[in-house]
Parts: sequence; C-alpha cells; structure tokens
Amino acid sequence: MIPITKPCIGNEEAQAAAEVVLSGWLSQGARVQAFEQAVAEYTGARHAIATSNCTTALHLALLAAGVGAGDEVICPSFSFIATANAIVHAGATPVFVDIDARTYAIDPSLIEAAITPRTKAIMPVDQIGLAADIPAVLEIARRHGLKVIEDAAPSLGATAGEARVGAMSDFTCFSFHPRKSITSGEGGMITTNDDRAAEYLRCVRSHGASTSDLARHTSGTTEIEEYRELGYNYRMTDIQGAVGTVQMGRLEGILAARGALAQRYDRLLAGDPRLETPYVPGAYRHTYQSYCVRLNGQDRPAIMAAMAARGIATRRGVMAIHLEPWYRERWPEVSLPATEAATANTLLLPLFAGMTEAEQDEVVDALHAELA
Ligand SMILES: Cc1ncc(COP(=O)(O)O)c(C=O)c1O
Repeated sequence: MIPITKPCIGNEEAQAAAEVVLSGWLSQGARVQAFEQAVAEYTGARHAIATSNCTTALHLALLAAGVGAGDEVICPSFSFIATANAIVHAGATPVFVDIDARTYAIDPSLIEAAITPRTKAIMPVDQIGLAADIPAVLEIARRHGLKVIEDAAPSLGATAGEARVGAMSDFTCFSFHPRKSITSGEGGMITTNDDRAAEYLRCVRSHGASTSDLARHTSGTTEIEEYRELGYNYRMTDIQGAVGTVQMGRLEGILAARGALAQRYDRLLAGDPRLETPYVPGAYRHTYQSYCVRLNGQDRPAIMAAMAARGIATRRGVMAIHLEPWYRERWPEVSLPATEAATANTLLLPLFAGMTEAEQDEVVDALHAELA
C-alpha cells in the first residue's frame, strides 16, 4: 500500500526519546524548552510556547487575544474541524468566510463584510501547507483593531513572499501530529512577538502556575508557586520535546524532498483537463502536507475506491466545517459556494519525504487510468 503520508523519523529520535525516559524527567522540562528555542529561532518569532497539540495551542492563543463569551472570530470553513472547535471552546462564535478558489485560503476581499461590533479576531488557515494571504489579513485586522491568530497547523517552514509563517501574525499555531512535516507524536506550538502574551501562555498551559516545575527545580530555593489564572494542563512532555528537537534538524531536508516530489507531480499531471494541479502564488513556499488536485467532472468516490483497490491511499481534500452535523445544526444558514465546491472536488494524493519516483509513477499511472 502506498500510504497518504509517512513520518520521516528514525533511530536518532528513538534514541532521544529513550534518553529522556531513562533520565527520570519526563514531563515538560529542558527538552521542551530546547524545542521551543529551535522553533523560535527558525520562525524568527520572539517566543515559542509548546502545547500538547495544535488544538490546545489555538484555544490558548484565542484566550491570550482576549477572545471570550459573546465574541465572534472570523475563519474559513475549509479547514480541519479543530479550527472552529477551538473558537467554540473559547466561548466565541466562528463566523465562516469563503475561500479563494485557487489558493483554498480565506478570501481577504470577503472579510470586511463579516466584521461586526462583536468581532474580536481573525483566524486565517494556512491550508495543506500554503500560507494564506496573511499580509492582506493583517492589514484588515489592524484597521479594525482585531487580533490575528494564524492556524498554521501543517505549515511550519511556509513563507508568504519574504515573510516566514510564524513571525507575521499576533499568534501562529503549529501542529506536530504525524501528518505534518515534522512530528513529536502529538504536539503543538504557539509563536508570538508579544512578551506579556507569552508569559500568560506559559502560565495557563500549566494550570495557571506562576512558575514552572523546571524553574523551581533549578532555582535551588523552596519557592511556592501561586495560581493567579484559571489554567489548563496543555503541556507537552519532554519525550515529545526531545523528538521534536531532533526533527527540527530534519525540517529543511524534508521540505526540500516534499517540494521536489510536488514539482514532479506538477510535471507528470500537467495539461490533463480532467484535473487541476495546486496553485502557488509567486514567492510563496508551500510545505505540501499533501498534494491536492481538483477534479473536473469526475466521480471522486469511485476514483478513491479504485485507487484503494490498486493499493494507493487517497483522501478527500479538506472538510467544510459548516457542513459537519454539529455546525450544520447550529448555523444551518451558512452558504459558502467556493468552499462547498472545493470540498466536493478536491483529492489528496500520497506525498512524503522518502516516497520513491517508482511509487509516484504508480500513483500517476493509476490516477490517469481511473479518471473518466
Ligand atoms: C488546519 C488544522 N488546524 C488544526 C489542526 C489540529 O491539530 P492537532 O491535531 O495538533 O490538534 C489540524 C490537524 O490536522 C489542522 O490541519
């Protein structure tokens, strides 16, 4: 079976994890701190705060942005369900805005019409590894006094022109789930340039404690912590921190391999009127969580079944959150034509560092054979 993805991970990570296990310090500590430092340096953000996953990162970033009950947050529906769930968990209402049909990211020209006196923030999503038009979103947000929380779950290493994802928005949230470019098993990270917000985030991710276990352990004093905020246990373990730090060293190599495979797909699939290959705006760097094609007039379920029968995994492109039952029941009036067309017609093909050209040829040949 050619899988949809495969983490690029090996002995070095296994050894790093084993060292942590044998060290006796397993929860958030020095290894998490090292991972945070590596992500901050890589993205160019002043702070990186590790969390248990990207959903908890989004939740905390919303709280740090001052989002709460009665507020509205503008976001795309063409995303993973966690984008909107985090907004609901923060007590706010997601206001879905349609996407640009070419990039699949929130369409900045539609954002202002969705702003109301209750709007507190905008949450663009860097979908499948391509940054949204963050400069345009930031310009609108600044004019309206809104915060920008960027859901960059699959997009560590992506750029919007010269600017690197992680250093542009008020808060940027990454995932280290095994579907992403690099993984710590599960894991998340928030980057920000806001010193006070960073301090708040470090506090609330660990029950609202005024100091961390690591700080108390290394201070040599008998300091007793205080709980001034209502916190959560959204910590990352040091096992994950150690694995993530090793993975950071592989990131550029993984992204180069993914980029080369994507360009090869582009060449092999070019000119076929039955599908469209991914669009990447000039100077943007795509991290290709997956290779997403748009099918023209095809029976997608039949193609997916036929590919599976040939031993090739595929996935539907991306969900439309507003069409999922929990959201549909609460906001039945939402209608987003570009999102609905994209969720019905997009298809993800296998792509991962280490995929061979022979495997890729097999995928392309199978797709050509099954397209009507
Ligand atoms: C766009 C987007 N946001 C949020 C998440 C949630 O990430 P995690 O699984 O780390 O909570 C994902 C995960 O796939 C995602 O793709």
